[in-house]
Amino acid sequence: MANYWVKKPLSQLLSSAGDSEKGLKRTLGAYNLVALGIGAIIGAGLFVRTAAAAAEAAGPSVTLSFIVAAIGCAFAGLCYAEFAAMIPIAGSAYTYSYATMGELVAWIIGWALIMEYALGAATVSIAWSEYLNNLLGGAIPYEWCHSPLEHVNRIVVATATNLPPELAAKANNGVVLLSDEGVAALPESVKSSVESITGVMNAPALLILLALTLLLIRGTKGSAAVNAVIVFIKVSIVLIFIAVGWGFMKAGNHVPYFIPEGVAGHEGLFKHGWGGVLGGAAIVFFAFIGFDAVSTAAQESKNPAKDMPIGILGSLAVCTILYILFSHVLTGVANWQEFKLAGKEASVVYAIQNYMPGFEWLATLVTVAILAGFSSVILVMLLGQSRVFYSMSNDGLLPKVFSDLHPRFRTPHKSNWILFVFVGLFAAFVPGSLAGDLTSFGTLFAFVLVSIGVWLMRRSDPDTPRPFRTPLVPLVPILGALVCGGMIVALDGDTLKTAFAWMAVGLVIYFVYSRHHSKLQKP
Ligand code: ALA
Repeated sequence: MANYWVKKPLSQLLSSAGDSEKGLKRTLGAYNLVALGIGAIIGAGLFVRTAAAAAEAAGPSVTLSFIVAAIGCAFAGLCYAEFAAMIPIAGSAYTYSYATMGELVAWIIGWALIMEYALGAATVSIAWSEYLNNLLGGAIPYEWCHSPLEHVNRIVVATATNLPPELAAKANNGVVLLSDEGVAALPESVKSSVESITGVMNAPALLILLALTLLLIRGTKGSAAVNAVIVFIKVSIVLIFIAVGWGFMKAGNHVPYFIPEGVAGHEGLFKHGWGGVLGGAAIVFFAFIGFDAVSTAAQESKNPAKDMPIGILGSLAVCTILYILFSHVLTGVANWQEFKLAGKEASVVYAIQNYMPGFEWLATLVTVAILAGFSSVILVMLLGQSRVFYSMSNDGLLPKVFSDLHPRFRTPHKSNWILFVFVGLFAAFVPGSLAGDLTSFGTLFAFVLVSIGVWLMRRSDPDTPRPFRTPLVPLVPILGALVCGGMIVALDGDTLKTAFAWMAVGLVIYFVYSRHHSKLQKP
């Protein structure tokens, strides 16, 4: 009879981490870790999902959504930092829970982390494809840069007949986009010009995943150097947008600050007013994901006790400040309503092109920087996922293929390839919004459990040395669990159903395979 609550002894965890000769190489310092964090953090969450949150739930108050999400992350981040400094081993929340809450909970977290890292990588690669298409002036046919679950109604201005001038004025890149309701309301004479196109697969998303998988297989050290350059570019672009955009804000775009009750399409509790702020927080929460990915690199960090907390909390602090300013400027430059359709894709570039005359060069620069920036996010997500797999496989919960290291590069190369196929399927065939919301779910779920885990561990192992201590335990862990739990509740109903189905599949695999292969369960 398997013992589902068997805990991995800390001593065993730490001794296996010290054995770095056999495992992953220790090459990363504090600066690398902060850079790794920012590299993972600033990405599609800021450049795509800010606009989505404003359009769907929060309006201009999306800035407050960022503050709510940041508060949840700060509490959880303080808890992560204690664990990461105490148990500096690849695998992040999965490993921590194995030591504190036992194997079954560890498996559940590991399974949720797949949603975070693998689907996170898929979401960002989908966003990458959006901005690439924008850079190419919309040259990639819609079918080949969208999933089969997406469709668009559009009028190409150059070939349309009887197009009313007010509609033509809404064109972007020579194309007017319309919602299904918008099409229904058109005069018959214009309807014949409407094309309705359904996606086939997102090819550019697949391509970027392939390129980064190849880079990862060559090893993290090289990728850390590339990452540092990209982080510099990414932060610069955010700062330039804030500085330049500030002068183009219109006060009217921030009024009313909350979406009022009664606006069509915003009927739900989390779609307007203060509820909308929480709904928006669940969406933009995606923008903070990544600081915890720092903890997955613990085994490759030179001095984890000191550098892990700096990496986690430092990168979180920098990003929070940038996000608050950025979202305020974005919703000040373009009206949030426009992000529903015309400005839905590549929203930042949309705002620049339409409302910041004279700064078209900035639009191109931003796009190039964003493409590079998204690549670094995908890289860290893929890295994090392969490291979580590595740990789960070392523990016997996943097959050995996930921990086989490349003889020369010492990277889990087979795992990277399996991951490419898995992530690629989502990137090619699922819409970004669904993948993004599932990513948020997986991460929030892990945050809640990590927060609780810190508290439990203080009671079960009070004497283990803690190079970094979460302040005010149990208050901080409880608040972390509550704020993150609140964001889970505010996620869309379909997302929650899909996420629970995913978790159910995970449990089946645990009971059919993992518990029989667990090394800890063997006598
Ligand atoms: N935080 C990362 C992003 O926004 C996942 O792209």
